[in-house]
Amino acid sequence: MVDFRPARPEDVEQILELVNYVFRTSSGLEPTMGRQFPTFICVENAPNLYVAVDDGRIVAHIGIKKNTAVVYGHKVSMANMGAVCTHPDYQGRGIGTRLLHEVFRSLGEEGIGLVSISGTRGLYKRNSCVEIGEAFTFVLEKGKFSCENFEGIRYHISEDADRADVLFDIYKREPVRYQRTKREFPMLLEAVPMVHPPVPALTAAVAFAEENVGLAYLIGYERKPGAFKVVEYAGERMVVVWLIDKLLHDREMEQVILEVPAYDRGLVSILNSAGLNGVSSYYPGTTLRIVNKESLWKEIYPIIEEAWDEGVLPSSLAELPNRVVDDAAKLAEFLFTGFNRPSYGQPWDQVFPLPLPWPNGLNYI
Ligand SMILES: CC(C)(COP(=O)(O)OP(=O)(O)OC[C@H]1O[C@@H](n2cnc3c(N)ncnc32)[C@H](O)[C@@H]1OP(=O)(O)O)[C@@H](O)C(=O)NCCC(=O)NCCS
Repeated sequence: MVDFRPARPEDVEQILELVNYVFRTSSGLEPTMGRQFPTFICVENAPNLYVAVDDGRIVAHIGIKKNTAVVYGHKVSMANMGAVCTHPDYQGRGIGTRLLHEVFRSLGEEGIGLVSISGTRGLYKRNSCVEIGEAFTFVLEKGKFSCENFEGIRYHISEDADRADVLFDIYKREPVRYQRTKREFPMLLEAVPMVHPPVPALTAAVAFAEENVGLAYLIGYERKPGAFKVVEYAGERMVVVWLIDKLLHDREMEQVILEVPAYDRGLVSILNSAGLNGVSSYYPGTTLRIVNKESLWKEIYPIIEEAWDEGVLPSSLAELPNRVVDDAAKLAEFLFTGFNRPSYGQPWDQVFPLPLPWPNGLNYI
C-alpha cells in the first residue's frame, strides 16, 4: 500500500536520488538537483517535502518551499512547488494526483493562500491550476541600443557573489518581491537554480552611487555565445537599462535578453521610449493554484483597498464579479492573470490583475 506523508530528515537522501534520476540522470544530465536547490531539497526543509512511500521506498515526491511574497508592502503567503515526480515504475496509477491533493489540502489547512508551480503539465491543469501573469521579452542588441552615461555612477560586473550585501539592499526596495534573507543571496547565486544544466556561476552587474550605495543590478548568464540572459533585475529602472549597455560593451555581448513582468510599467515604458518593443506572453512556465481563498482574501485586501478609488469596496470574495469565487481556477484568473485578460468592467479593471513576484529569478523552484 502506498502511504502519503511529509518527509522526515532521513528521507532527504532518497528524495535526492529520485529527483536526480527523474530530472537529470535519466536524460543524461549530471545529478545536480542538490547543488541547485540547497534551500529547497535539504534536511531543514524536509517537513515541506511530501512523499509517497511504498514499502519503505519513496516512489513520488512534491517539494514545497514557503516563500512569502511582498506586494507593494503587503505580505502574501505563498508556497512554491517543484521537483514534482513519480518514479517511472509507478506512473499512471494516480499517485501523483493523490499526492498533489494531499499537498494542496495540507497547505490550505495551514492558511497558505497560493501555490506557485514552475510547470504546465496536464496534472496541474486538471486540478484547478492556471497560468498567470504577463511578461514582455526584450532583446537589446549591440549597435542598435546605447544609453547616455550617468555622471558619478560606477558599476562592477563580476561572477563572484562578493557583493551580496549590496544586492540584498537593492532587492529589499523592490515593490513586488519575495521575502529573501541576506544569507540566502550568496547561496542562491552559487546554486544557479533556474539554469539547467547549471552554468559555473551567475554574473552580477551592479551599479553604485557614492559611498557604495547600490542603485540597481542585473543577474544572469551567457545562454549561448554572445547572448546574455537576465534572470533577475532590481533597483532604479533607468540604471537597469544603463547596466545593459555596460554589459553589451564590457562583456562583448551581441545581445541581452530581458523578461519584464507587465506590471513593471516603468521599465516597459523606458524601453518603449528607447524604441524597443517587447514580445508579450505568459510568464514562461508559471502556474498558480489557490488553496485557501479566505486566507488569500485577507492578505490581498489591503492591496485592493489602496487601489480602489470609486464605489463601494467589495467586503468579501462573494462580491467579486461573475461568481468567480465558486471556482478556484476562475478566481485565480480573475485576481492574477494579465495575458489575454477579458474585461470585467470598472472598477475591477483598474485594480486587477494583482502582481506577484517574478518567478524565474533566484527564488526559482
Ligand atoms: C507528471 C508526473 C509527476 C505524474 O505522476 P503520476 O503519478 O504518473 O500521475 P497520475 O498517475 O496521478 O496521473 C498521470 C496519468 O495517469 C492517469 N491516471 C490517474 N490515475 C490512474 C489510475 N488509477 N489508473 C490509470 N491511470 C491513471 C491520469 O489520468 C494521468 O493521465 P494524463 O496525464 O494522460 O491525463 C509524472 O509523470 C512524472 O514524474 N513525470 C516526469 C517529471 C515531470 O515532468 N514532472 C513535472 C514537472 S513540472
